[in-house]
Formats: sequence, structure tokens, C-alpha cells
Amino acid sequence: MAATASPVAPVPVKGGVAPLRAGQGYSFWLRRLHSLTGIVPVGAFLFEHILISNASAIGGPIAYARQVRFLASLPLVPILELFGIWLPILFHALYGFYIWYRGETNVGEYPWTGNWMYAAQRWTGGIAFAYILWHTWTMRFTGIDLHEFPGASFGKVQSEVFQTPLFLFYVVGLIAASWHFAYGIWLFCAKWGIVSGEQARKRFLILCLAFFFVLTGVGLASLTSFRSHALQPTDSAGASMVEAGPGTTN
Ligand code: HEM
Repeated sequence: MAATASPVAPVPVKGGVAPLRAGQGYSFWLRRLHSLTGIVPVGAFLFEHILISNASAIGGPIAYARQVRFLASLPLVPILELFGIWLPILFHALYGFYIWYRGETNVGEYPWTGNWMYAAQRWTGGIAFAYILWHTWTMRFTGIDLHEFPGASFGKVQSEVFQTPLFLFYVVGLIAASWHFAYGIWLFCAKWGIVSGEQARKRFLILCLAFFFVLTGVGLASLTSFRSHALQPTDSAGASMVEAGPGTTN
């Protein structure tokens, strides 16, 4: 017997963010993990790094040295770094490049400004990746060890931001990472169904854009502080003087 045709015409699917769906094999879980790692721990780390640790540089070399000493004194620092920062970033970045290469997206469609936002999310991720590799190499693995000599932190950053090309790289890296994270929060909340409905998503987008300006603004204020203070020492003896307090350095 032939099936009776439905009298109701199919409703056209509206453009917007489709939720992540189960039943797509193991790539469903990889995509969920990619999405989640963007917020926790990678996004949480970026939040702390820009808005707390680097913001302390606005208070000058001694305040910055204190913050770095505090971070270095946390228990199990190498384990925290490996499992809380490096491996999650590496996974998110490599899987992000794979999504980019495959031309895939977790979202049904990037709404409103469509392709631009889609492309920006990929390019800002790529730029942030290049910046993070270089920044980690120069700050963590070469030159004076800042965990041992936190007092040299301000001077070590200054030795880079006083060189114009590197300063510009800092600015571009900051803007790229801030945009990627701020718009990423919006994507995440839309995808996981945390913010639903077109009106609510539009309002939330404005909040995320405001967050982008806060991240960028605080980051630029920290960079300005590095450039406006007199050059600080980057050797072990000078580092101890910075930590010893006022009267020993500028
Ligand atoms: C600064 C470090 C990074 C942070 C804080 C971060 C954060 C985020 C967040 C929160 C999202 C939204 C999650 C979602 O799509 O559900 C996201 C998406 C994405 N990230 Fe990252 N990310 C970072 C670095 C990278 C890097 C280095 C890449 C490499 C290209 C990358 C590629 C992507 C891609 C392609 C998406 C969009 C996925 C899609 O549209 O389906 N991210 N990121």
C-alpha cells in the first residue's frame, strides 16, 4: 500500500547554530573534546594569563615578580603545565587544524556574518598557534629560568617588547587569541545549547564582543606598562634585587 503524503509542508531549516549531535562515530567525541578544551582548560588558562598574571605587570616589576613567584610556587608545576596547558592546547590546535583542513564546522552555519566569522575563527586560531609556540619557546625554554628567578620576568618580556617587530607580534598574537576565545565562547554556548533562541544569541554575541575588548584592552595595558618602565635586569643578581623591593631598582 502506498504511503499517504503528509498534508503539512516541511518547515525550511533556519540558518543558525546546530547543536552537537551524538551518533557520528568517534569523531563526535573528538569534536566534543575539541569544543570543551577550548573553554577548559585552554580558555581558562588564557583568561588567567591575560586578566590576572599579565595584568599584574600594570603594577610594575615588583608586582609582576610576585605573581610569577606565586605561580612558580604552585604544587606539581610541571604536571600542571603538561596536563593543564600543553597537552590540551596541542590537542585543540592539532584537531583545529584538522577541522580547518577538512573544511568542516561544528556549527550548522555561522550565522549573520557567516563566512567571515568562520574564516576568522580558523585564521585567529592559526595565528595564535604560531604566537604561542614562539612565546612558550622564548619565555619558558630559553634564557633565564623565570621559575627560579621570578624577579627577571619583567626584564625578560621587556627585552622582546622593546623590539618593534616582536612588539607587533605580541599585539597581533594578543588580538588573535582574544578574538578566537571570545567568539569561541559564543560558539560553545550556542553549540551546547547553553544559549538558545535567535534573540538570546544576538544579545550574548554582544557580551562576547565586549569580552573581546576587555581581554584586548587589559593585554594592551600590560604591554604598555612593559614599554613605559625603565629596562629591568634579566640576570640572576638583578632578579634578586627586583624581588628585594624598592630602592634597589627603578
Ligand atoms: C589561544 C588558545 C585557544 C583558545 C583559548 C581556543 C578556544 C576555542 C574555543 C572556546 C572554541 C569554541 C569551541 C567550539 O567550537 O565549540 C574554539 C573553536 C575553534 N578553535 Fe580554538 N582555541 C585556541 C587555539 C586554537 C588553535 C591554535 C587552533 C588551530 C587552528 C584552533 C582552532 C579552532 C577551530 C577550527 C575552532 C572552530 C571549530 C568549529 O567551527 O567547529 N584553536 N577555540
